[in-house]
Amino acid sequence: MDARTSRYPETYARWQRDPQGFWGEAAQAIDWIEKPKAVFDPKAGLYGRWFPDAVCNTCWNALDRHIPKRNDQLALIYDSPVTGTKKTFTYGRMLSEVQLLGAILKNFGVGKGDRVIIYMPMVPEAVFAMLACARIGAIHSVVFGGFAAKELATRIDDAKPKIILSASCGVEPGRVVAYKPLLDDAITLAKHKPQTCLILQRPQCEAAMVAGRDHDWKAAWEHAVNYAWTSACEPMLATDPLYILYTSGTTGIPKGVVRDNGGHLVALDWSMQYLYGIDPGERWWCASDIGWVVGHSYIVYGPLIHGCTSIMYEGKPIGTPDAGAFWRVIAEHRAVALFTAPTAFRAIKKEDPDGSHIGKHDLSQFRTLFLAGERADPPTVEWAEKVLKKPVIDHWWQTETGWCICGNPVGLGTLPVKHGSATVPMPGYDIQVVDEASKPLPPGTVGSLVAKLPLPPGALPTLWQQDERCKESYFAEFPGYYKTADAGYIDDDGYVWVMGRTDDIINVAGHRLSTGGMEEVLASHEDVAECAVLGIADDLKGEVPAGFIVLKAGVNRPHAEIEREIVALVRDKIGPVAAFKLVFTVARLPKTRSGKILRGTIKKIADKQPWTMPATIEDPKVLDEIKDTLKTKGLGA
Ligand code: COA
Ligand code: AMP
Repeated sequence: MDARTSRYPETYARWQRDPQGFWGEAAQAIDWIEKPKAVFDPKAGLYGRWFPDAVCNTCWNALDRHIPKRNDQLALIYDSPVTGTKKTFTYGRMLSEVQLLGAILKNFGVGKGDRVIIYMPMVPEAVFAMLACARIGAIHSVVFGGFAAKELATRIDDAKPKIILSASCGVEPGRVVAYKPLLDDAITLAKHKPQTCLILQRPQCEAAMVAGRDHDWKAAWEHAVNYAWTSACEPMLATDPLYILYTSGTTGIPKGVVRDNGGHLVALDWSMQYLYGIDPGERWWCASDIGWVVGHSYIVYGPLIHGCTSIMYEGKPIGTPDAGAFWRVIAEHRAVALFTAPTAFRAIKKEDPDGSHIGKHDLSQFRTLFLAGERADPPTVEWAEKVLKKPVIDHWWQTETGWCICGNPVGLGTLPVKHGSATVPMPGYDIQVVDEASKPLPPGTVGSLVAKLPLPPGALPTLWQQDERCKESYFAEFPGYYKTADAGYIDDDGYVWVMGRTDDIINVAGHRLSTGGMEEVLASHEDVAECAVLGIADDLKGEVPAGFIVLKAGVNRPHAEIEREIVALVRDKIGPVAAFKLVFTVARLPKTRSGKILRGTIKKIADKQPWTMPATIEDPKVLDEIKDTLKTKGLGA
């Protein structure tokens, strides 16, 4: 297929001519309790609101409405090599599980608009929990299991949940991660104290329960089954929040990205068909975690809203048991597409460079590999194409947008792939490249990637109870535009190339982390006078954080001892997901004459990229010291 045979150009032009007509038509694929009379209200919210008068329920669209046709079709396949478990759930069974859990939540006093934190591993109950919240109108906030107690506590204080749903443990290869002590510590640290915790005991580790506060999930479930409890779908305004998902901002305080009900339904259903090219009834696998936006949109909501079977995988691309795990899952469950992060493929490539495991599995029904979450480096894309012999599609998106900003619309007819480019803007996105003064830049020139307002359905309307922070973070710098905080360029063919962040966010194994947040942790160590954290290139994870510390005068303990404490501190305060293992003790940090730390220059040296001496540097000799320090761990030029 090429640009002449793909329906993308006409579809995008149709959206440009009449955005409201376009989304109004897409909205017909959704079941509404009250159909939208208005598609968009430009005066509402921070930049307008989609489907302002419509009423709907997301769980209804994900489950109930499919029952007449898909009662016996699998909705969820759970495949967990780390526990040696596989389970399947039909749409009919999923619906009864979700009805039961909705009733249990209601019995604990959870109602419309109440917040529910879900701190759970990749188990089906986590999906039931998200859908049960959606069903009864509660707002869920899923917290990724790799975050430590302090991160969880910050989210508890911001979301103020009535109840927390958790499990006794997560299972990482070779290691059982006890979640309950982390949850208990988080509740101790938090000012807000949730009334209730519902705990799923997993056989790998039994959690101790706090009397009065903690309830056993299984016992609550049995009680609800015995009394035939059920729950109905709460009518929700399309503009009501469905969930809050916290993501890294430029400080240690994460941003609570809000997702609405109606726009999200419309955008995700559209994307399943036209971006991913998936028909209802097909089997789809998104190998992410429900703690990330990719997991929200494409393990849970997207595939179910679209009537597909979603595969939920509790395992890794390698080591569970080997680099053939992904091919085994695709073949065994007959997945037609896989969506994962490039880092997973870098891991497989490193372990099995010839793709020797692939031949052991029947991938004949598999059509497309989708990559997102970080820049898809061309060598990895080329390798995946070579071993899979199927299209490999990169696409660019963010927690804030909830779905793809730029991609290659397989369902409209795949456009020619250019390695390293996320391809073209989706309908809803008018992407431009501008300089600091919001002046459009010519094709091929790198600048800030911005999206003309309004954002499409599915994108964030605001940050949880922080309209001002939302305006300041996203809409203030480039008036009339959403600031993506990514830099890149658009080429002569209109292809968008995303090159990296313009802020201090780094992307570690597809996980979004704030170096500013890590610096706050380093600075809290009693021996540290000054510090800087920056992301440096890593073959497997794309980027890993590296910390540079200057010790307070008079500290004469061994540096290695302090560095070990710093590594442990980041693991303890942020979590293992930060993958923070590199610390360098230096005498001084390179700075400009006005005192700004030259993080960019340190990064270039560490990454062996060409660099020039900054004209404003206070003392050029400091960079030599940095180079020597990096060399001690085999880094830098
Ligand atoms: N609960 C507790 N700990 C977790 C966790 C969870 N849900 N997820 C990860 N961790 C831990 C890991 O065990 C690891 O701990 P360690 O330092 O003791 O080894 C640490 O957090 C860092 O995890 P990660 O960066 O994922 O590294 P890894 O070495 O475990 O795995 C990959 C590397 C590439 C295999 C892995 O990152 C991966 O499969 N990525 C797929 C892409 C993905 O899921 N992206 C998400 C967005 S699309
Ligand atoms: P997250 O909010 O965790 O999804 O992370 C979003 C960030 O990941 C973006 O702002 C980008 O910096 C990066 N990202 C995601 N997808 C891509 C992609 N396909 N190409 C380049 N960067 C990407």
